[in-house]
Amino acid sequence: MAPPPSNPHRHTRQLCFVLPILLLSSVAADSTPSYSSHCPSPAPSPDLVHTNVNDTIALLEHFRFSPGFFSGSGASNLFMPGVSGQFSFFPHAVSRTADPALLHLSSARLTLFGERAGAQNGTLGFGSYERIYDVAISFRLDGYYSTTTSELCMVGTGTDTDGPAKRYADVDLRLRVPSKPSLVDPFVAGRLEGGADFEAVNLVAYADGDVYEYSEGRATCPAEAAATTSARRALEPQQPGGGFSCAAIRSRLVSEYRLRHAQSNSSSLPKLHEPAMMVNQVRCAANGAVRLYAVFSNDVRLWASANRFAVENQGVVAEGFWDAETRRLCLRACRVELLVSYWSSAAEKLEVRECGIGMSFWFPAVWTVRDRSATAAMLWNASGDAGVISNPITASTFQYIIRTTTTTTNLSDVKYSYTQTFLDTATRHYYLNARRSMSNANKKTEASFPGTYNFSSYRDLEFRFLADNEEMVRGQAYPVSIGSAMVDGDELAAEYAFSRHAAPEMKQSRLVNISYGILFQFTAFDRPDCSEIKAEGVYDTETGFVSMLGCRELNVSTDCKVLITVQFSSLEESQASGHGKGRISSLRDKTDVLYFESRNITLYGMYSEQVSESIWRMDMERIITLASSTLSCAFAILQILHIKRNRDAARATSITMLVVLALGHAIPLVLDLHTLLANRSRLFVELSGNGLLELHELVLRVPALIAFLLQLRLLQLAWSGRRSSGHHRSLDAERRVLLVCLPLYLIGVAVSGVIHAENSRATRKDPLLVDFPGTLWGALASYAGLVTDGFLLPQVVLNAFSSESSSARALSPWFYVGGTVIRVAPHVYDVFRARRYVPSAKTSYVYANPRDGLFRSAAWDVVVTCGAAALAFLLLLQQRLGSDVRRTSHIWLASSSS
Ligand SMILES: *[C@@H]1O[C@H](CO)[C@@H](O)[C@H](O)[C@H]1NC(C)=O
Ligand SMILES: *[C@@H]1O[C@H](CO)[C@@H](O)[C@H](O)[C@H]1NC(C)=O
Ligand SMILES: *[C@@H]1O[C@H](CO)[C@@H](O)[C@H](O)[C@H]1NC(C)=O
Ligand SMILES: *[C@@H]1O[C@H](CO)[C@@H](O)[C@H](O)[C@H]1NC(C)=O
Ligand SMILES: *[C@@H]1O[C@H](CO)[C@@H](O)[C@H](O)[C@H]1NC(C)=O
Ligand SMILES: *[C@@H]1O[C@H](CO)[C@@H](O)[C@H](O)[C@H]1NC(C)=O
Ligand SMILES: *[C@@H]1O[C@H](CO)[C@@H](O)[C@H](O)[C@H]1NC(C)=O
Ligand SMILES: *[C@@H]1O[C@H](CO)[C@@H](O)[C@H](O)[C@H]1NC(C)=O
Ligand SMILES: *[C@@H]1O[C@H](CO)[C@@H](O)[C@H](O)[C@H]1NC(C)=O
Repeated sequence: MAPPPSNPHRHTRQLCFVLPILLLSSVAADSTPSYSSHCPSPAPSPDLVHTNVNDTIALLEHFRFSPGFFSGSGASNLFMPGVSGQFSFFPHAVSRTADPALLHLSSARLTLFGERAGAQNGTLGFGSYERIYDVAISFRLDGYYSTTTSELCMVGTGTDTDGPAKRYADVDLRLRVPSKPSLVDPFVAGRLEGGADFEAVNLVAYADGDVYEYSEGRATCPAEAAATTSARRALEPQQPGGGFSCAAIRSRLVSEYRLRHAQSNSSSLPKLHEPAMMVNQVRCAANGAVRLYAVFSNDVRLWASANRFAVENQGVVAEGFWDAETRRLCLRACRVELLVSYWSSAAEKLEVRECGIGMSFWFPAVWTVRDRSATAAMLWNASGDAGVISNPITASTFQYIIRTTTTTTNLSDVKYSYTQTFLDTATRHYYLNARRSMSNANKKTEASFPGTYNFSSYRDLEFRFLADNEEMVRGQAYPVSIGSAMVDGDELAAEYAFSRHAAPEMKQSRLVNISYGILFQFTAFDRPDCSEIKAEGVYDTETGFVSMLGCRELNVSTDCKVLITVQFSSLEESQASGHGKGRISSLRDKTDVLYFESRNITLYGMYSEQVSESIWRMDMERIITLASSTLSCAFAILQILHIKRNRDAARATSITMLVVLALGHAIPLVLDLHTLLANRSRLFVELSGNGLLELHELVLRVPALIAFLLQLRLLQLAWSGRRSSGHHRSLDAERRVLLVCLPLYLIGVAVSGVIHAENSRATRKDPLLVDFPGTLWGALASYAGLVTDGFLLPQVVLNAFSSESSSARALSPWFYVGGTVIRVAPHVYDVFRARRYVPSAKTSYVYANPRDGLFRSAAWDVVVTCGAAALAFLLLLQQRLGSDVRRTSHIWLASSSS
């Protein structure tokens, strides 16, 4: 199944940060405040001329703090009140001075990343809303660092580019940077003062660089039987002996962990009682030394964005070594406490408290239905007898947010081991359900199910779902293993394993073993301790039926009596009937406390083949859109020529019709402008990134713009034709046209209002269809679409009233036949598309965009098509037969309006 397009917001965010910094660095260099007035110590000293490159690199690393965390009352002055943020600090140059204990840091850049709220007016004055947006404030600082006092003092200026550029002229930064960071002294902390501009901002970060001093003696892990080592993955399977890679260990460690504690009255680490831990910062050296900072909490959602420095009331810092022989990371750790909560404005301080905690991490090589942690860990109280570990805390990585992309960890060396009792139960329920569904299924010969058709992907077995009748329950399910293939983790490795192992197994046997992870969002399930159901069972490749038994984690126990059944739609029928249905139920007695009401679920998503189909469709629609607006131009030009050749035609053309047409061309253009303006804060970024696409869409609208201008020219010609002819008769006729048409247009308002409301409600019911929201603009656009579809109406009425008009053959056949075809084609196409393609996000509709008219109801499409064709036919008769028809059409109009 296809991944949804990855959230562009993240890239936007990064770019938003980078751009202002680039701009700022050129601005902020002048008129630095004086160093000595802000920093009584350390006293400055002249720079040494000769520098050692290796030394400078090490120093630059030592003074690089990123990511860091800031808070305090100054943060509320600079950003939104009550919110903290992240900072980065990079010195541009570090040099030693005549005083050996003094370092000179120059042109250091401190950047604070925070959020602001602002009122944002809707485009063209429609509505207003509060917008929260990212802001970066950059400071350029110079100063000195004393290795004896560990004190860094710097002065400088800052610039704020949000709104009119604001300068902070008089800023000083005081940080305590441990000259030799160690387990008990690992943090950089201090404050930024803004003089008159803002109050103090408190900063804290985890020290970087190779100057870190590891304690004497190796941290020890508990002794164990040699056999357990083979159940662990090596750090680098490609290298003999497993090797050590900093990048590998960092990417495997940085994650969220679910903790399992001993009974609270017997825990050996009573202060670390939270249910979840996040390893936040990891540093390592080439010799296998590793140190890290982790935090504990009961609400993991605050950690959703990676690459931030996390601050919680409880944490640990740890240091140790990777033991390649036993494939374990053995660490000694100290508890870290936050002295003042960051929600208060007072200074906060991370303080290292008692040490004597043992910690180890490893990477299980075998996954089962109960234990599927990419990384596992253990924490114990090491202050007692060495070698005796009682009541440790165990930890394993877990997934708690709906994933937008698969993880990048290569899990191809993990083996999935199925549990026979789970398979047995699942198979039993498979036979129970299969018999039932077999009896009422009308056997189709041509049906291929996910995973089995040519060029299928393991991601075809992935799906998202909504619970029926419960709007808020939604989730995602992803296969962990299929047959003997591990398909979790890195996408390439998974795809390889799938095509190599799973696909042949699915061809060979009808039932394959399968295991899934099922994540929930917004539910009673949605607590960090039970957000995922781990399930395994069987998949019938011939009927697309999955039956699985799963475990859901509760805070004190695990409930392994959850039955999950899923019926996938076949590739052929999913076009019309959706992606499939399923059910999550409890196998427990109704009286059991762990029993829950069963839920029916509806699957959604697209098979990989449908994704490529829909990309193809969008490309086709772009071409059709371009062709149709180019044809509009051509027809308008032909009409202009027709009028120039035929003087009477100008006088006989209905002004009302031309106005309707001009508006019909203008409104989609305005809507595009609206979309563009609504994003104008991101415009710069979008033009450099995803914006290319948007620019593309705008270029596609150029023929439409030309068509609009040609319509205006036509209007001008018709108007001047009227004026030159001088007599009032034709204007009288136009007035009568309005008298007939206006009531019809008013009826149109009502009709399109009802249909638009209907469409909006259908959209809301179906959360997959992200539609143009039910705004005033949306309704207006639908109405404009309707009126433009009937653009010939005023001309037909005018011809009926004025014999002159019909005999003058106001319109070139190209113009009215061609124009009608252009208006009708999207409706015909809409009917075709609804039958041919899976409904997808409406934003993927380029041509026959519901935004530009009333679509999404086949009956309505037919009505519009017939109406437009009838008008064109009537006009043809009028122009052919001239005034003869006048009376007949008069009668027709009278009878149809009564
Ligand atoms: C810098 O380090 C490299 C290796 O790490 C060494 O070969 C080189 O000699 C060092 N240079 C100086 C000036 O110390
Ligand atoms: C929004 O509109 C009001 C007037 O309607 C104006 O005073 C205000 O400055 C506008 N705000 C923004 C952010 O454009
Ligand atoms: C811990 O508490 C449980 C009940 O919550 C009790 O059964 C158990 O005996 C207690 N253990 C100790 C060592 O006090
Ligand atoms: C470890 O256990 C001892 C008592 O055996 C206790 O005093 C100490 O606080 C514990 N350490 C931690 C970090 O909880
Ligand atoms: C799949 O490919 C095989 C040959 O590679 C072909 O015989 C078969 O018809 C294809 N099946 C479908 C459904 O396209
Ligand atoms: C994943 O790791 C295996 C070795 O365990 C290696 O052979 C394979 O190339 C890796 N795949 C990717 C995509 O990195
Ligand atoms: C499913 O797994 C079980 C246990 O590992 C194994 O005995 C059985 O052969 C597997 N079934 C298939 C169809 O591979
Ligand atoms: C488990 O979670 C439920 C719901 O949040 C709560 O009521 C219950 O007290 C928790 N039990 C324990 C032992 O923490
Ligand atoms: C779920 O669907 C089944 C039929 O598939 C139906 O019998 C049952 O009533 C539904 N349950 C709920 C709670 O809607």
